[in-house]
Amino acid sequence: MSELGPVYPGRASLGKGHTSLDAVRRPSVGVRPDANCLAVGTVAVMRRAFLLAAAAFVVAGLAGVQMRFGMQYGLPGGWRLEHVRFAHTHLMYFGWATPALFALICSLVAERTGRPPSRLARAATGLALASAAASFVPFLLDGYGFTQVGALRLPLSMIASSGALVAWGSWAVAYAAATWDLRRDLALVAIDAAVLALLIASAGAWGLAAAAFAPVAPGMLMDRLVPFYLGVFSNGWFALAVVGLLAGALAPRVDERLGRVAVVLLLAGTLVAAFADLLAIWPAWIAVAARLAAAYGAVVLGLQVALAAGRARWFGALSLGAMLTAKGLVEGALALERVARWSERAALPVWLAHGYLLGLVTLALAWLALRRWRPDAGGWFWGVAATVAVLLVGIAPLTQAWPFARGVWVLPLAAWASLAPVVGIAALAWVVAGGRRS
Ligand code: HEM
Repeated sequence: MSELGPVYPGRASLGKGHTSLDAVRRPSVGVRPDANCLAVGTVAVMRRAFLLAAAAFVVAGLAGVQMRFGMQYGLPGGWRLEHVRFAHTHLMYFGWATPALFALICSLVAERTGRPPSRLARAATGLALASAAASFVPFLLDGYGFTQVGALRLPLSMIASSGALVAWGSWAVAYAAATWDLRRDLALVAIDAAVLALLIASAGAWGLAAAAFAPVAPGMLMDRLVPFYLGVFSNGWFALAVVGLLAGALAPRVDERLGRVAVVLLLAGTLVAAFADLLAIWPAWIAVAARLAAAYGAVVLGLQVALAAGRARWFGALSLGAMLTAKGLVEGALALERVARWSERAALPVWLAHGYLLGLVTLALAWLALRRWRPDAGGWFWGVAATVAVLLVGIAPLTQAWPFARGVWVLPLAAWASLAPVVGIAALAWVVAGGRRS
């Protein structure tokens, strides 16, 4: 059996008399004997959504490459680095990772219920993609500021991205409606927690949208709201959704009880730490304890994934479990003020952010997409992983933690190395698109 197959666990995996569907559906709900076939036949639309998300990665990645070259040669057309960074971050978060997670979760749910993704789920995924695409140019030109449109000055980037807020809320409703009658195994518990984080993060984003229309320049509020909602988004929504999808793929090999406790710790720790930073009114130790709890949750979940994947000899998933464990350990260390200060001085945050967002979130999406849509082409995962490694090695000399980080070669190396994952994800999309027409 390949590392990525079989995509849909058969009866054998749960022992005599039980199918994978029996394990997740309450007996009262009508069971369709052909549920797996139905799911295979109806998630094609979600594969298209994944491919569009991959296209968003390519555009956002090129904006990142442009930033890297811009650091050496300057940016074209009077663009400001800060605005390009906003455009890059938004498209990566809301055009790539979020719709790709929507597509993979919808496919997992369809596989378990035997029902196709609802019209609402499909519309919400489409709206999320459209809104991310529409806000890219306004962010590039004016960041969170106002754009001149004829005689009017409008916060165009905020208007365009407010569609995403509607999309996330609608998608959460569609997810709840599709899964309310399913048994909550670790995969669904983690995805439930992820969706809660998504909704809480979007409350922060609503606040940001409202602040953009406020008569007084809300600089300080904006400065705190942006890290709040991006933090809950990446450490809550991304991390827990990835855990849920990996647990779904690895079921029933993961330890359910321990996993549930770790999910609660990860969610609660992330939320408490984010609110403590946002409100800045609590004693500092609460945020430290919350960060440590979230880190502990991530380590436990990472080890669980790695052990379960190791037992199945799925080395791609094992490496993702190891990455999650490493993220937990790093977050735990960064919870200590001294370490956090050293990391800032050594210019590590951007490197660490990409180690997580590319090395775990993006690679997990690649592994899960191959497993679902091209189980025969699992080896491509290592190709994509190699391109991510090239970027991370290439930008390492920009940090002070690298002993040989001197010389004229540092910026060109970082710029050229940054192209690698763009090529990697474009190739992944090509492979996924060429798969079995399901
Ligand atoms: C081809 C892949 C990528 C390239 C070339 C790239 C490049 C960059 C560059 C040049 C910056 C600005 C760094 C600075 O200001 O010093 C940046 C920042 C950022 N990128 Fe990426 N990036 C990539 C992938 C991603 C992905 C996949 C995500 C998220 C899913 C992401 C999220 C971010 C975030 C959140 C920041 C702001 C970090 C901060 O200011 O602390 N990037 N990226």
